[in-house]
Amino acid sequence: MILQHNYPLKPHNTFALDVFAEQFVSISSEEELREVFRSEQGARPVFVLGGGSNVLFTQNVQGLVCKIALTGIRIVRETAETLDVECAAGEGWDDVVRTAVQQNWGGIENLSLIPGSIGAAPVQNIGAYGVELKDVLVSVQGMMRDTGEMRTLTQEECKFGYRDSIFKRDLRNKFVITSVMMRLRKNPTANNLHTSYGAIREELTKLFPETPHESYTVHHVSEAVRSIRRSKLPDPAVLGNAGSFFKNPEVSRNVYERLHAEHPAMPVFVLDSGKVKIPAAWLIEQTGWKGRKDGDAGMHAQQALVLVNYGNATGQDLVRLSERVRADVFAKFALQLETEVNIV
Ligand code: EPU
Repeated sequence: MILQHNYPLKPHNTFALDVFAEQFVSISSEEELREVFRSEQGARPVFVLGGGSNVLFTQNVQGLVCKIALTGIRIVRETAETLDVECAAGEGWDDVVRTAVQQNWGGIENLSLIPGSIGAAPVQNIGAYGVELKDVLVSVQGMMRDTGEMRTLTQEECKFGYRDSIFKRDLRNKFVITSVMMRLRKNPTANNLHTSYGAIREELTKLFPETPHESYTVHHVSEAVRSIRRSKLPDPAVLGNAGSFFKNPEVSRNVYERLHAEHPAMPVFVLDSGKVKIPAAWLIEQTGWKGRKDGDAGMHAQQALVLVNYGNATGQDLVRLSERVRADVFAKFALQLETEVNIV
């Protein structure tokens, strides 16, 4: 375990913010992780970093940044129809999706091309195109920071919600995820695929005009999702960003009625709970922020919900811009946008 000092975090955050960690260590075993927390006890703050795709650094990080680099993917259980696959927290989320698609394992193809690590995925219950991680997750394993004890949480114990989990709440800063177990379907048929969300069907027809719908596989769906994402979302390797910056607000029926009366064209999604989800991208677009910049900070031209670092914006520039966007949305709609990204 090599402790490094004044370590550049630019390659470790997808906003490409030029900040430094006072100390940095890359962890590749459970024992090393336990060692870090044993020495932590009050001595220095420890910041646990995954793929750095959901964090906005506003300053250099005091204390120790601990990069989770645990690797390994293994099949733990198998039935005639399913596989329980355990993935270590340091694996890249999309690398696991690619492996699953190559093997024709079904369940996570709609979550193709989401940046970040396996360990970060349960924290915000990643979701896209009608599927959320919680739909395939069996359990999460990790370490209690205070005792070094390993704990396994069942899907239910993770208390998943929309971009939400126990890891953002009761277990925040108390627990480090070391692996995730997912139940994937062996040889899924076209009936098992989720293709009804948004533009997936259109994209499938466009990309695979010769393929009949009943012959679609996880490969086809994954390619369609990749193609849609590439057309709207900036590639963090090219343009600094962390995907959706805010959550889509979920409002009561009453609030919806008020907004709908004032803005009949507002797109909405009615949830099973009876609440109504309003696309934050639409709200932001209505305030004129889509594609607008201030210096090197701006909202993306193809997807208004994505805050972008066009080059040399600082974390503070990005936060300031996001506050202006939030204030304008509030002024126009009386709705408070909540950030999805972790501001440090
Ligand atoms: N829209 C606009 N203007 C825009 C973009 C979108 O008005 O610039 C409206 C359209 O009406 C569109 C609707 O917003 O139908 C929804 O847009 P989109 O399908 O692009 O999805 P989103 O709600 O903005 C969410 C997730 C994404 C995920 C997509 C696809 C959140 C916060 N974000 O975005 O996740 O990829 O759905 O399922 O829920 C992420 O979390 O980082 C992320 C990218």
